[in-house]
Amino acid sequence: MFIAISLLVSYLIGAINFSFLYGKLVRGIDIREHGSGNAGATNTLRVLGKGPGIMVLVLDVLKGVAAVAVGDWAASPQQGWVPVACGLLAIVGHNWPVYFGFRGGKGVATTIGAMAMLAFVPTLIACAIAVAAIAISRFVSLGSLLIVLALPVLLLIMHRPPEIFWASVVLCLFVFIRHRSNIVKLWNGKENKLGAKKRQSS
Ligand code: G3P
Repeated sequence: MFIAISLLVSYLIGAINFSFLYGKLVRGIDIREHGSGNAGATNTLRVLGKGPGIMVLVLDVLKGVAAVAVGDWAASPQQGWVPVACGLLAIVGHNWPVYFGFRGGKGVATTIGAMAMLAFVPTLIACAIAVAAIAISRFVSLGSLLIVLALPVLLLIMHRPPEIFWASVVLCLFVFIRHRSNIVKLWNGKENKLGAKKRQSS
């Protein structure tokens, strides 16, 4: 019973979209109609500025942290799959939120939060790779794709539990699916650069 509740709560935590809420409640806009059209930290930064962007990033990371913590609380030490599943469900909630017509974000910040709880050092290394890639290229989407590509490799090399490895493979798929338009734009040389004038639509 506790486990089922923790899974549901994790999805519902993930589905709280801070980018959408900040845009709507504070600025009176639907963030999904602006910039890249994504309800996430990068587009919040692009459309609404640095402060809101950083705030959304931190809150989205914390959603992943909170979901895994809920799973840890609900499960026994033998049920290691529960916090992993809770982390995954928070990202499902972020990407496909029940409160907002199932139109959410791309799940990268929430992935970082959940994976940091499950495998801190590999996540830190993956984030460092992404930060370096973003600093050089100024493409956040490239950094996002690199994080989820690096994670399964690092988890394998660093001998982390199989359920965490397989979760990272699923998360990699989610992020690639959610970044389809970014991948096309990167390929065509039309992707938005960090700090550049915003380009419309996703
Ligand atoms: O995490 C989202 C980022 O990788 C891309 O965001 O708004 O440029 O599509 P955006």
